[in-house]
Amino acid sequence: MQNFISIEQIDATAQAVKKKISTLREPLAGIILGSGLNGLADSVQNAVRIPYGDLPNFPVSTVEGHTGRFVIGELESKPVFVMQGRIHYYEGYSMGQVTLPVRVMQRLGIPNLIVTNAAGGVHPDFLPGDVMLITDQLNLMGMSGLNPLMGPNLDEIGTRFPDMSQAYDRDCMDLARKAAKENKITLREGVYAGLSGPSFESPADLRFLRLAGADAVGMSTVPEVIVARHGNMRVLGLSGISNKANLDGTTITTHEEVMEAGKVITPKVEMIIRAVLRNL
Ligand code: HPA
Repeated sequence: MQNFISIEQIDATAQAVKKKISTLREPLAGIILGSGLNGLADSVQNAVRIPYGDLPNFPVSTVEGHTGRFVIGELESKPVFVMQGRIHYYEGYSMGQVTLPVRVMQRLGIPNLIVTNAAGGVHPDFLPGDVMLITDQLNLMGMSGLNPLMGPNLDEIGTRFPDMSQAYDRDCMDLARKAAKENKITLREGVYAGLSGPSFESPADLRFLRLAGADAVGMSTVPEVIVARHGNMRVLGLSGISNKANLDGTTITTHEEVMEAGKVITPKVEMIIRAVLRNL
């Protein structure tokens, strides 16, 4: 497993993408679609599709519900760069590989990133099918030594010690709130805790997370957002609550449940993303 990705490797991947999309407008936003939320990529118009396997240095997503390709085209007439299927740390890739797609977006000059994920609802009021605006994150992977910025700093992209006080962009949050209101979608808000997975949390893990201030928990997003902020992208984050985290150990959580909830969540997330894009 390759630990650190160099700027030369990132540029080689970015160049390969560039060649395939040279006729398109420069994308305004990168969009990463989470588990069960892949459907939005099928609505992209005038799309160029690039399977990850066609790109040098690129990890391939191995999880059911993650297709594994870039879909580059237009949504709401805005040029977008969609990841249909993301890469997770638990698949055995390095943090550098997991976040390579965001690095490629940065080298293509994409200024905005919209991240979505499926998450367990840790806040007691959250229900499966809810959408949560991510207002902040708990970097539990980083706290245990798995920060994607470890290793040589990529000075061409950002500073050694990037600020994380506003990981999620306040103006983008306001756009999402407005979009939800206009579409009569209840939008929850809260802190997303990122764990490595792939095992779901034990009841004790979940009680710990709740005490630590988490409202939702998942196995992605946090490394991507750190890398995005390192390169000064504006970030909007949306979690689809696919299951209620079980703090007392009375029910079990399954991947099937997560995929099923995606069907209810996808149209809501799509409406919010479309409205945000119109106003970006
Ligand atoms: N825990 C972690 N990740 C998840 C969950 C969960 O309960 N649901 C969907 N992704």
